Amino acid sequence: MSSFPTTRMRRLRASPALRRMVVETRLSVDDLIYPLFVTHGRNVQAEIPPMPGICQLSLDRLLPEIGSVVDLGIPAVLLFGIPSSKDPQGSEAYEPNGIVQEAIRVIKQAAPEVIVVTDVCLCEYTDHGHCGILSDGGSVDNDATLEVLANAAVSQAEAGADVIAPSAMMDGQVHAIRSALDAGGFGGAPIMAYSAKYSSGFYGPFRVAAESAPRFGDRASYQMDPPNAREAMREIAQDIEEGADVVMVKPALAYLDVIARAKRRFSVPVAAYNVSGEYAMVKAAAQNGWLDARRVTLEALTAIKRAGADLIISYHAKEAAQWLDARS
Ligand code: PBG
Repeated sequence: MSSFPTTRMRRLRASPALRRMVVETRLSVDDLIYPLFVTHGRNVQAEIPPMPGICQLSLDRLLPEIGSVVDLGIPAVLLFGIPSSKDPQGSEAYEPNGIVQEAIRVIKQAAPEVIVVTDVCLCEYTDHGHCGILSDGGSVDNDATLEVLANAAVSQAEAGADVIAPSAMMDGQVHAIRSALDAGGFGGAPIMAYSAKYSSGFYGPFRVAAESAPRFGDRASYQMDPPNAREAMREIAQDIEEGADVVMVKPALAYLDVIARAKRRFSVPVAAYNVSGEYAMVKAAAQNGWLDARRVTLEALTAIKRAGADLIISYHAKEAAQWLDARS
């Protein structure tokens, strides 16, 4: 490369049209997945205080929301359920009439073209708030949990889920779910594995939204330790071996290096979860007038894509889709 004054980097920045022509990363509505929190009852549209603009929705209120997802061209939603009651096994996670199973049917009936991704975990459904079944000593029993997760996945597939997303961070969960789906006649249902899911402080607002905070202790014995990136590559490699079709890094913004490494090392699509705490920070600052919400949101989502994410799960999906549309 020649140097100054032969090279002047500013030449290609001189006008909006020139800048548009040399853009390296283009965020698209096609990249986005919008998370939804579904709950029992009627006429429930309860805003989640730390997540302005995001609500728990009853099934009747879900339909208009799906309508706007369709209108905005967002290809997929990710479902989380708030059960009517919680128990030690998290049984509503796998019941045929569980809230997520009902929501899947409602969505697939109204808008069959929308890809319904379902989170497979037990923390929303257990009375202790952990992502698995507890052993007598109170620790999470990995292998006993696998069967419950597999049952939940099959029950979601039976209800019509298009993509299954295991997020409990149990060893062997992808294998257990893949085998159960195949045995149940759902060999065609892809798995989007939460492979490198960190034990993160950025999930705080989600736990309010999903009413899923652990009643004691934390998730550090199953979710990944934030300083580790090589270990994330092992997690991802294992999940691919076990049958994951898409792998995920979560959270996104504090782990862009992990996304970039995963993208370089593996050839499966990489998803990134722009989590609740990342959303809450932008909203809080914007509400105070400290940040321009539109600029920083599109900048952050573009950064996630630039790092290597093929798919981005984000609470910003609807507003981002609007902004992207208005730009063109
Ligand atoms: C379920 C699950 C969590 C999130 C997605 N799936 C919470 C957790 O692990 O405590 C977090 C998503 C977010 O913060 O937006 N285990």
